[in-house]
Amino acid sequence: MKESIRVFSPATVANVACGFDVLGFALESPGDEIEVRKKDEPGFTVINKTKDTVFPADVNKNTAVVSLQAYLQHIGSDQGFEITFHSKIKPGSGIGSSSASAAASVFAVNELLGNPLKQIDLVQFAMQGEKAAAGVAHADNVAPAILGGFVLVRSYAPLDLIEIPFPDDLYCTIIHPQIEVKTEDARKILRKGITLKDAVTQWGNIAGLIAGLMKGDHALIGRSLTDVIIEPIRSMLIPGYDAVKEAAMQAGALGGSISGSGPSMFALSSSEETAIKVAKAMKETFSKYEIENHSYVSKINKQGPKVL
Ligand code: HSE
Repeated sequence: MKESIRVFSPATVANVACGFDVLGFALESPGDEIEVRKKDEPGFTVINKTKDTVFPADVNKNTAVVSLQAYLQHIGSDQGFEITFHSKIKPGSGIGSSSASAAASVFAVNELLGNPLKQIDLVQFAMQGEKAAAGVAHADNVAPAILGGFVLVRSYAPLDLIEIPFPDDLYCTIIHPQIEVKTEDARKILRKGITLKDAVTQWGNIAGLIAGLMKGDHALIGRSLTDVIIEPIRSMLIPGYDAVKEAAMQAGALGGSISGSGPSMFALSSSEETAIKVAKAMKETFSKYEIENHSYVSKINKQGPKVL
């Protein structure tokens, strides 16, 4: 059996506008890379080769370690590991940096140990890492990070994950303004209750989005990317939000919203060419607000993590 492994784990877009905590998809890039090596004694050693990122001093607070502890306890192993991080996703960016580390670690160790668990069964452990990072064990980043594609969390108790087919020509634009929004903070500002009217609008859109993805109906996908519950509140944390979204639509995007808890925004397009135009339009608009930003254009990742 192998002693060490290096894996890639993708960035993810959670919520996808109308699916707060229940829908997410994976990107082909960016993503995180980690190397995991078996140790001769139990316990974890963490090595950070990521520029500009500070890890918690206590390894037991590291999302990857928390996920691995849950996984190893489940399979009854006290194997120790050294984990080296080469993260390319900035923490607090809204494209699932903590989820990518959590997903990468459980995927890597499951591979190293000869795949005792199926990939779908790894999600519950990566959710523990998410809980350590954001205070809530939401699965809408870790599930697509582990399974690839679009994943619907039909239920949390019991956990019921549904992989949603999607059209092959769908491209995603991500724009990351260089401001930090912590998921934990972005959750605290949300209202605890919603009106029946808003609930009706939201569940119409989430059902429409799933139907649009499954039917490959781009127009239906576009008009379903509407969020009347979360976006109106969280968008206040992103200067220029409405103008940047409008610029994406004018450039031909099907629709878009906040990626996860922000500050990144995402837009979906029907071709790579349009997604590139959308990135340019979004960047230019953010620049008018004098906010430095980075953009990514990516196909939807079908595979999830991979061994490098
Ligand atoms: N569903 C989570 C939230 C995703 O919006 O808080 C965080 O990336």
